[in-house]
Amino acid sequence: MRKPLMVGNWKMNKTITESIPLITDLTEFLKDYRKTEIVICPPYTSLWVARELIQDSNILLGAQNLYFQNDGAYTGEISARMLQNIGCSYVILGHSERREYFQENSKDIARKVQQALDFGLKPIICVGEKLKERNEGIAQKVVKEEVEAIFSILKPLDAGRAVFAYEPIWAIGTGKAATPRDAQDMIKYLRKLLKDKYGKKTAEQVRILYGGSVNPDNIKALMAEPDIDGALVGGASLQADTFARLVKYNDSNGLI
Ligand code: PGA
Repeated sequence: MRKPLMVGNWKMNKTITESIPLITDLTEFLKDYRKTEIVICPPYTSLWVARELIQDSNILLGAQNLYFQNDGAYTGEISARMLQNIGCSYVILGHSERREYFQENSKDIARKVQQALDFGLKPIICVGEKLKERNEGIAQKVVKEEVEAIFSILKPLDAGRAVFAYEPIWAIGTGKAATPRDAQDMIKYLRKLLKDKYGKKTAEQVRILYGGSVNPDNIKALMAEPDIDGALVGGASLQADTFARLVKYNDSNGLI
């Protein structure tokens, strides 16, 4: 059984001052909630304060990126070693915003995934097609290429520690989530690629998330699909009550 995983990707939002009440409220709203694994990924500047505030809670810490060197003359970058040391368990890698605005290519992303695994961080590897690619009927081809770049470095023994997130680019921040059926179809395909490469056992163990305009109203239908194991959530993770409702999607009295 794969435990559901909900990840809040804050992107470039929230100062330290703004992060404190958000995290404090989250720990309160989600206190003792253990049905779902919960991860928040604040910007680097808020990681320390987040770690302090969540230390006795059921919330885990993640970062939004890393650089693939250990340390050295790489002005402006943050290493996996630093993230491990500050208390991160997860790191988002290959987000489409990084691919698009910061020209990260598949090779860079694969190196980052390797580095994360070497330092005991679980990578959340994002893949997904553009609207044009979906309309052209090549969505699966795009996702396959992105995933295969990761497979080229991902060792069988490490594969079970990876998390994938299918995030169709046209659904991110647009309010237009993929239908549960479309998300399921692609995630099922992704699991098949995992099976072909690493075998059935690993494919059934790896969690695959959906991301793109997830909110408390559409999460339940998405989670009802057999291959969707959780969500990578942007906008709806920036308000404590909204994210808490989303995390508790399966609770009849999940109202807070
Ligand atoms: P969104 O972002 O939930 O705001 O669409 C998701 C993401 O980019 O991870």
